[in-house]
Amino acid sequence: MTHFLDIDQTPQADLRHIIDDALTMKKARAGRPKGAPDDIQPLKDHMVALIFEKPSTRTRVSFDVGVRQMGGQTMVLSGADMQLGHGETIADTARVLSRYVDLIMIRTFEEQTLLDMAEYATVPVINGLTNRTHPCQIMADVMTFEEVSGPIKGRKVVWSGDGNNVFASFAHAAKQFDFDLTFTGPPPLDPEPALDGLYAIERDPHKAVEGADLVVTDTWVSMHDPQSARERRHNQLRGYQVNDALMAQAKKEALFMHCLPAHRDDEATSAVMDGPRSVIFDEAENRLHAQKAIMRYCLGA
Ligand code: CP
Ligand code: NVA
Repeated sequence: MTHFLDIDQTPQADLRHIIDDALTMKKARAGRPKGAPDDIQPLKDHMVALIFEKPSTRTRVSFDVGVRQMGGQTMVLSGADMQLGHGETIADTARVLSRYVDLIMIRTFEEQTLLDMAEYATVPVINGLTNRTHPCQIMADVMTFEEVSGPIKGRKVVWSGDGNNVFASFAHAAKQFDFDLTFTGPPPLDPEPALDGLYAIERDPHKAVEGADLVVTDTWVSMHDPQSARERRHNQLRGYQVNDALMAQAKKEALFMHCLPAHRDDEATSAVMDGPRSVIFDEAENRLHAQKAIMRYCLGA
C-alpha cells in the first residue's frame, strides 16, 4: 500500500519522480480548458473520497478538479457530517470507506487520525494537512521553485514567522531535496523539537534572509490554534512580517511564497504578495498538478 503521509515518510527518489511527473502533466495540458480530460486517464473508473475536518479552498478544489481531469470521480465529505464526527472510530471509518472508494484524502486535526486512517484503510491515504504537517503544499512549492528558479538543491530557503505545520513539511523537504532552510521567528513559536537538525535558526529576520533564494511565510494563527492566542501572536510576530524592507535583504532574484489563505498586511504586505517576486498563485495552481502526480504515485496508475 503506497500512502502519501509525509515528505519524510516518502523515499527521495519517489519525491523526485512525483515532481517530474507533475511538471510533465502540467505541460501536456497547457492551454486546455480546466474541465478538459487529460490525454491519459489513469483514474478512469476510480472513486476518490475527499474528507475535510477543517475548512479548505485550494485543497478541496485542486483535488476535485485533478481527479476529474484524470478520469475519476470524487465525493467531498465534511467530517462533521460523517459518523466520524459523532463517535465512530477512525479505524471503522477507514475499513468501511475502503469498501467503496479507491483512494482517501483527509484533512484533519491530530496526526493520529491520519495515521489510524492509513493503518486501517486498505486503499491509499493522502495527507491533506494535519496540525503537524502539510506535505502536498510543499510538493507544489518545490515544483514552483524549480519551474521558476531551477534546481532547489543547495539553495537557501528562509521561513519567517510561526514554526507551524507548513514549516514542518518544509523542514522535511530540506532534507529530502537537499536545500538549506533557516527559521526566523520568536522562541515561543519555534518549530517542534522533532525537527531539530533539519534547519538553522537566526532570530534577526534581516540577517536570516541575507543570501536567500526563497522567502516564505504563512498565517500567524493556524486553523488549529485557539483564536484567543491571536493578539499575543500578532505581538510576537509583528517584527517578522515579510515586507519590501525584508525582501531587500534577500537575493535580488529571490522568490516569495505563501501557501494561502493570507491575512494581507499581517504576515506579508500586499506590496510583496502582489510584487514581481511573488509566486503565490503559481503555488496554488501547482497544487493541482503536484497532487495529480501524488495520486498516480499512490495508485501506481
Ligand atoms: N494552502 C491550502 O492548503 O489552502 P486551503 O486551506 O484553502 O486548502
Ligand atoms: N498553517 C495553516 C495552513 C493553511 C493552509 C493552517 O494550518 O491553518
